[in-house]
Formats: sequence, C-alpha cells, structure tokens
Amino acid sequence: MSGFAASGLLIEGAASIATMAGGLRCGSAQADVATISGGPLAVACWEGRILAVGWSDEVHRQIVAEGLPLDAFRRLDAAGGLVTPGLIDAHTHLVFAGTREGEWQMRARGAGYLEILEAGGGILSTVAATRAASDADLLAGARRRLAEMLASGTTTAEAKSGYGLDVATELRQLDVIDRLDREGPVQLVPTYLGAHAVPAEYRGRPDGIEAYVADVVGKQLPAVVRQGIARFCDVFCERDVFSADQSARILGAARGAGLALRLHADELAPSGGAELAAELGCLSADHLAASSEEGIAALARAAAGDRPVVATLLPATSWFLGKHHFAPARRFIDAGIPVALATDLNPGTSPTVSLPLVMSIACLEMSLTPAEALVAVTINAAHSVGLSSEMGSIEPGKQADLVVWDVPSIDQLPYWLGARLARTVVKRGRVVFGNGRVRRCPST
Ligand code: NIG
Ligand code: FE
Repeated sequence: MSGFAASGLLIEGAASIATMAGGLRCGSAQADVATISGGPLAVACWEGRILAVGWSDEVHRQIVAEGLPLDAFRRLDAAGGLVTPGLIDAHTHLVFAGTREGEWQMRARGAGYLEILEAGGGILSTVAATRAASDADLLAGARRRLAEMLASGTTTAEAKSGYGLDVATELRQLDVIDRLDREGPVQLVPTYLGAHAVPAEYRGRPDGIEAYVADVVGKQLPAVVRQGIARFCDVFCERDVFSADQSARILGAARGAGLALRLHADELAPSGGAELAAELGCLSADHLAASSEEGIAALARAAAGDRPVVATLLPATSWFLGKHHFAPARRFIDAGIPVALATDLNPGTSPTVSLPLVMSIACLEMSLTPAEALVAVTINAAHSVGLSSEMGSIEPGKQADLVVWDVPSIDQLPYWLGARLARTVVKRGRVVFGNGRVRRCPST
C-alpha cells in the first residue's frame, strides 16, 4: 500500500457524471449513459479503485462510513466539466516503424488498398520497417503515440503485433507492448496478429499462404504462448488475405492454447468473418463494413444468446480509405448487436490516436448519437477487450480510470471536431494527465 495520505482522490464540482453503470449495452440501451447530474456531485477513489459516486454529501457519508478520513483524499475540482470513465481503445496497431503517407497519394490516384499490399507495399512496407527497427525505436514511437492517446482521454488500449510476421519480430512487438504496459499510465491489452498478411518470403511460392498459416500455427503461436504476454489472437480474415477456413484453423489453435479471440472481419468484402466470429465465440468482430446478411444475422443471434460478440467498428479507417462505405451501425443496434468503436490506429489506414475524433466520425457518417458513441468507447469497449469487470464504468470496486472533460455535456464531446477536450485524466486513482503534463504511473 502506498502512503495513506496519497491513497484517496475526490473529484467534485462536475456538471454531470456519465457512469455507464450496468454492463454491456445493446439495442436501445446502447444510448444509456447512466448519467447523474443536477446537483453537487462527487467521485471518490481509494487505492486505485472507485469507492463511491453520486451526490457529494452521500459520497462524503460513504467515505466516513468506511472509516476513512476525508483529509486523506486529494481534491480535484471538475469545475463544471463532464466526468466519464477513461476511454478504452479496443483496436490498435500501436507498435510499428515508418509512415505510409505515400500510399495515401497512390490511393488518391485510384490504387486499391489490397492492390498496394499485393505489390509489396501496404502492410508489407510496415513489416520491412518494423523488422529493421531497434527495440528502442519501436518503444519511442509507440510511447509518443500513447502520450497523445492519453491526452485524448484513452486510459486503456488493445495493441496488436502483426508487423513482424516472423517469430522473432512478433515476439519483439509483444515485448514492447508489455514493457509499455508496465511503464504506464495507459494500460495495454496485448494481441497476437501473426496472420495479418503473408510475408514477402512466402509470396513467391505456389503454396505460400498455406505454408505461412502452418508457420503461424506450428511455430509462431507456440512461441507466443510460451512468451506469455498475448491475451488475444486476431486474424485479418478478408478475401485475398486469409480465408474464413484459414482463420478458423488459426483461431481454433489459439483458443486451444488459452488465448481469447477477436477478428478483423469483412473490412473490404464479405468474407465470412462475422459468421466465423459468432461461430467461434470471439469476444469481438472488428470492421464489419462489408458483412453479409447472414453475417449480421449470426451476430444478432449471438447477441440474443449468452455469448454476444461485440461489433467493434472502425469508422476512421473507412473514412481514411475514402471508401464512403461505413459499417451499418444503426442496423447492428436495431438488431440488438452491442457496438463498440475504436481507432484502428495504424500507419496505413488510420493514423489517428483520437477516440473523440472517431466518435465524431461515427456520429456524422454512421448516425450514432453522442450517447451511443460514448457507450461504444467505454463499457462496450471494455467488453470487447474482456475487461468489463475492471473498467468501462464508474462503479464502486472498479479501477478508478476517469476523464474530466472541458465540456459540460456528452453531446459536446463529438461536436468539437478534432479538439483536445480531456482536461484531467486519472488512471488507477492517480492524476496522470492534466494541465498538459503526463505523469508516469507503473501498472504493477
Ligand atoms: O485494420 N486491415 C488490416 N489491418 C489494418 C491495417 C493495417 C495496415 O494497413 O498497416 C486495419 O485496417
Ligand atoms: Fe486493424
């Protein structure tokens, strides 16, 4: 336990608190932000966890009832701002080297995303840069992005490998993710994505894809499991990348080895990804911009049963690819499928760290309401990464991950396009960003 005097934080003076209390949201509940407003409000944090939230006098009474002295709580004035749970970015490719702005020019002249990949660019150019980069370079690049994420209100992010595509570099990427998680303050959820593309050394061979799948299942996955860092396994299930059958074999092996599952599904063409995610009980199916009718029906059935698959939508990617083809978020919500939103942060299709910007794009291009978008980056995102018992809502016992925003209402969060509105960010009960300063807080 750290020093008694430093153990408490009491946030007072918020205009409203969006608690997100009550678990995974789907259907009309996707808009339920469980807000408290209209009086003196407070959130009390003790030893890194939420102790109490609600009316100030009630919160004070609970502090006293716990036998804790009020003066052991550091005060933080929310000054009429909005308080929400810390945002959770459920899909990022955080660790990479190099940039791909040249590809943007190629796409503007009509080249397709997979066409560029086929020609050895795209993901493969980031693979070459990442293999060549030192650990120190990978750490420095990712650290810079994490500082930006924190300043935009993100307190937890999923982070994938997938720019190594060989045992050594995949393990190196996961190790960098683990080191950054320990360094904090942004908490990371590591995902192994060896099946992100078929690497150059397999491409000339007639059996190249199958031989690479065998490498993923037979060599990379066992090494990743031995390393013990990855919690999830992901596959880029897409026409002309990895088929549903190949994805099923990789994910089946990963599940057998104890990893939880998620899937890049139907990003560019219907590829059986949504159907597969439902069949395998993935925690999350991501992208879903081109799912088939059967795929949507399969996700709806899963949502109605006891193994809902969170539809983690990535509208910044559709936007940046200029596809004007967004996932049918309203259809998902109407079908009772829980929706999360994430950045997909990566150098090729979504070079943004900002969940508030993603919320704006979701409201503008997918007709989500600001409340639905906020649920999608908090409690539903927590489910997407398998951490809903720890985060995603402001409820007693959960980690004290909070953001005080410089706006009084939820509607204003996506409204101020591209603005940096996080005034103070709290991770595990400690102020880790505020007044433009980032403070380190080890996660262990
Ligand atoms: O989710 N589509 C596959 N993976 C990433 C893009 C990775 C890249 O282009 O480097 C995505 O969009
Ligand atoms: Fe992705």
